[in-house]
Amino acid sequence: ENPHLIDTFGRVATDLRVSLTDRCNLRCTYCMPAEGLDWMPGEQVLTDDELVRLMRIAVEMLGVTDIRLTGGEPLLRPGLEDLVAQITALSPRPRLSMTTNGIGLAKRAAGLAAAGLNRINVSLDTVDPELFKTITRRDRLSHVIAGLAAARDAGMAPVKVNAVLIRGLNETEAVPLLKFCLEQGYHLRFIEQMPLDAQHGWNRGEMITAAEILEMLGSAFTLTPYPGSRGGAPAERWLVDGGPGDVGVIASVTRPFCSACERTRLTADGAVRSCLFSNDETDLRSLVRAGARDEEVADAWRATMWGKLAGHEINDAGFAQPIRPMSAIGG
Ligand code: GTP
Ligand code: 5AD
Ligand code: SF4
Repeated sequence: ENPHLIDTFGRVATDLRVSLTDRCNLRCTYCMPAEGLDWMPGEQVLTDDELVRLMRIAVEMLGVTDIRLTGGEPLLRPGLEDLVAQITALSPRPRLSMTTNGIGLAKRAAGLAAAGLNRINVSLDTVDPELFKTITRRDRLSHVIAGLAAARDAGMAPVKVNAVLIRGLNETEAVPLLKFCLEQGYHLRFIEQMPLDAQHGWNRGEMITAAEILEMLGSAFTLTPYPGSRGGAPAERWLVDGGPGDVGVIASVTRPFCSACERTRLTADGAVRSCLFSNDETDLRSLVRAGARDEEVADAWRATMWGKLAGHEINDAGFAQPIRPMSAIGG
């Protein structure tokens, strides 16, 4: 038996994305409603011990080499620094990264780096304070900017910025965002909006495509293909004005990268998912709480990944959005 997380298409999942909570302290209009969502009840959320055990099984038995902490907003998880230290004490030690909205990061970046966190990606859709308030429904742009600087100063390089452009909202921000990131030394990536919002308001015709983004950037910068192989990375990259600055586009919808997918996911309530878009989940929490042995948990995880679909099917007729919104799956 192959010990790794392989599927019927021969892909190997070495990259684990773990959602630490479904809660968030922003309310991005394209993600969730102003009143928030029905959060997971506390007793359904994995404890630190349960989480660390599952991650230990992943790295010891299943060949996972990279772990990314996501949410909701992972900084809202109580005791995060301690959890980071426990994860980076695993053997073999996984590379550990986090995707965050950056609120509260200014005070915590150094401690997280000291606990072993290797890299941070920060979500930022505008550098205009008023627009930030409109998009996130919170007046916190300065907190995010300070958080980014703290991550850089803590040595967690490269610091990446993720931006989603929404038509009629922040499509004017492509060039200003790139200028800001080039000045500050952050690696900016634009993400095509995917049908994962809690309100089910995604609309293909309104989505800003990778092609449009490149056209907007092309009006202010000269982009040349980034040398070297992309591997399983979701971002296609370009050197800006000859480099060393660069920009990426994650074209999940118009140029899917599913055939190179290396991901497996764990939700905050302990479900393993083979894909962002598949409702096919395995409830590891119940297994763990019923006293399952490591080998049984590992087998259930392998079986879930074996059933991974070829791709997300967003572009197929009859596509239906997954039941869980992105904030409850993990970005
Ligand atoms: P690094 O480049 O290694 O830093 O990581 P990353 O780009 O994989 O991580 P990040 O969490 O920053 O993801 C960026 C964006 O890619 C997410 O916000 C999603 O919009 C998108 N994304 C992440 N995982 C998936 C996935 O499994 N499928 C698709 N289609 N998109 C994904
Ligand atoms: N499509 C693409 N990206 C999304 N994000 C949130 N919702 C969506 C969506 N529907 C982004 C956030 C953040 C990351 C975790 O995912 O803006 O950058
Ligand atoms: Fe929070 Fe991210 Fe959703 Fe914005 S997109 S509300 S930061 S989970």
